[in-house]
Amino acid sequence: MAIRAEFAAVRLLRRLGAVLLACAPLLAGAQGYTPRPQERAAAAPTSVAEAASAPLTNLPARQRRSLNGTWQALVDPYADGISQWKAIWKDQTATGKTQFFEYGFDDSVTLEVPGDFNTQRPDLMWLEGSVWYRKALDYDVAAARRAGRRLFVHFGGANYRADVFLNGQKLGSHEGGFTPFQFEMTDRLQQGDNRLLVHVNNQRRKDGIPALGFDWFNYGGLTRDVDLVETPSTYIQDYFIQLAPGSQRRVDGWVKLAGSAPGQPVRVRIAELNVDVRAQADANGYAPVRFEAPFVLWSPAQPRLYKVQVSTPDDALEEDIGFRSLAVRGDEILLNGEPVFLRGVNFHEEIDGRRAHSKADARRMLQHAKDLGANFVRLAHYPHNEHVARLADRMGLLVWEEIPVYQGIDFAAPGMQAKLATMLAEMIGRDRNRAAVVMWSIANETSPGAERNAALSALAQRARELDRSRLVAAALYAPGIDDGHRVAVTDPLVASLDVVGVNEYFGWYVPWPVEPEQVVWKPFGKPLLITEFGAEARHGHHGADDVASAWNEEFQAEFYRKQLRMLARIPFLRGSAPWVLMDFRSPVRMHPFQAGYNRKGLLSERGERKLAWQVMRDYYAESER
Ligand code: GCU
Repeated sequence: MAIRAEFAAVRLLRRLGAVLLACAPLLAGAQGYTPRPQERAAAAPTSVAEAASAPLTNLPARQRRSLNGTWQALVDPYADGISQWKAIWKDQTATGKTQFFEYGFDDSVTLEVPGDFNTQRPDLMWLEGSVWYRKALDYDVAAARRAGRRLFVHFGGANYRADVFLNGQKLGSHEGGFTPFQFEMTDRLQQGDNRLLVHVNNQRRKDGIPALGFDWFNYGGLTRDVDLVETPSTYIQDYFIQLAPGSQRRVDGWVKLAGSAPGQPVRVRIAELNVDVRAQADANGYAPVRFEAPFVLWSPAQPRLYKVQVSTPDDALEEDIGFRSLAVRGDEILLNGEPVFLRGVNFHEEIDGRRAHSKADARRMLQHAKDLGANFVRLAHYPHNEHVARLADRMGLLVWEEIPVYQGIDFAAPGMQAKLATMLAEMIGRDRNRAAVVMWSIANETSPGAERNAALSALAQRARELDRSRLVAAALYAPGIDDGHRVAVTDPLVASLDVVGVNEYFGWYVPWPVEPEQVVWKPFGKPLLITEFGAEARHGHHGADDVASAWNEEFQAEFYRKQLRMLARIPFLRGSAPWVLMDFRSPVRMHPFQAGYNRKGLLSERGERKLAWQVMRDYYAESER
């Protein structure tokens, strides 16, 4: 009855809409229909503050059905399908001969999920707008209800804003293109056929994170895995099981339950270490978990993982977790109590000219880093998909993860601090049990200023509240080389950081004022990483090694030799990461030789090694000895 009444009302509205449409040009001027401002504002996607509950941890271990594969899609370049007028979210289907819906999914195109929409269809390559995805879901709700099961839809990521609807009702919105989110559907599902719609909009925005300008391709869409996840009515939502700061034996963690009866007993086991710990969750579902064990510590040389089982009377999860200790002592970084030098490299989440998203993609990029002799990767400039951190655990690579607080962020925008904190929490929440992840980076190349300094020092503090076991970092603009050939890092943000990254391009954007050996970096009492240095070359292009504008490999290789002569003389340098492992797409790199790619890669976008690759390979081999 209710369903039929709804369709009747829809028919009436549609006829009314058709009338409106016919006279809309008159209403809104000859340029075609434009939703009234209040209508657009009313329907605009909500801020991240309305995002879902904290995403479920350890997704791979849960009972789930993958929604990866072919989805129907409807392209909405002007991004007004969200409006009440077009109401694409109502997913209306024509019935009878006289009805039609331009903004419906009948006979729609399709897109593969996960995957950016830009590279799946030539007509979408440069789209910065909205795409609507639709997936039909059949689900035995009665059986789930009998078993007291709960159902969530979990997104590994969607760039940049997402609005999720089920059967014409909004489940929620999420802002941020690189962190997971989820919505519960349990009470919204119908027996049998359901329709899940996702509106994804990748338009850049002044108050976004990142904001309007960034040097990578703005891949939009459902760029990561989508899963239906089933849980018991009271379930294990999250947990943190890592060594306590300063210890190589003691775990000081917690388990968080959610649901109708959160005060349940919790058990944590590591069979091969005879660990079997029980705790009681409190009324908020929180159970502290503390124990000691003789761990073989995780390290790049020995990436030892243990099977950890977390269980309650209703739920059970397991995953492989590594245990290692991390600290800063003066200007040194200590891994398992020993000073470590981070032989690193940067890379974007891109492969084969598209947004990377799979385990196979992650393995290829991490293997390139291993081939270079790296023990460290900086995942620029946003949290990459979950497969990367999990594989780094297994392959023995230390990881710098970063939220896309990139250059021109509007720190004074209303709600910005909340957005920053939510994005940070989503990044930490997803990877807090990954031994490989050693640094949370809160910014890249933001300019000192009152709002920025306040926002980022608060964010650094928030990172430590969320996770005392890791180091807080940021990558800063390089200071200039002064008349005395000195480089002094004076950014006030340094006081809030454990590890300081500096992106310097001496020899590329900044000609060397003196020989590299003559440059003196002034100590500032904390570990320094040169988190970016690089120059462009087009693979296969050869010529003189002293002409920057020639874009040839010889120049790039000589750039690296000169850089390394300076790095070798910085006594408190604790790591380096060339910018960048592989050429990557960027709309701000349109010189004919760049052809839409930033060509600072040590590898071409096809993985071909440039001469500079060997220079870095030899340097890392030497420093490993
Ligand atoms: C900056 C920035 C990178 C950019 C690089 C470059 O340091 O962090 O995102 O790609 O410079 O100019 O190539």
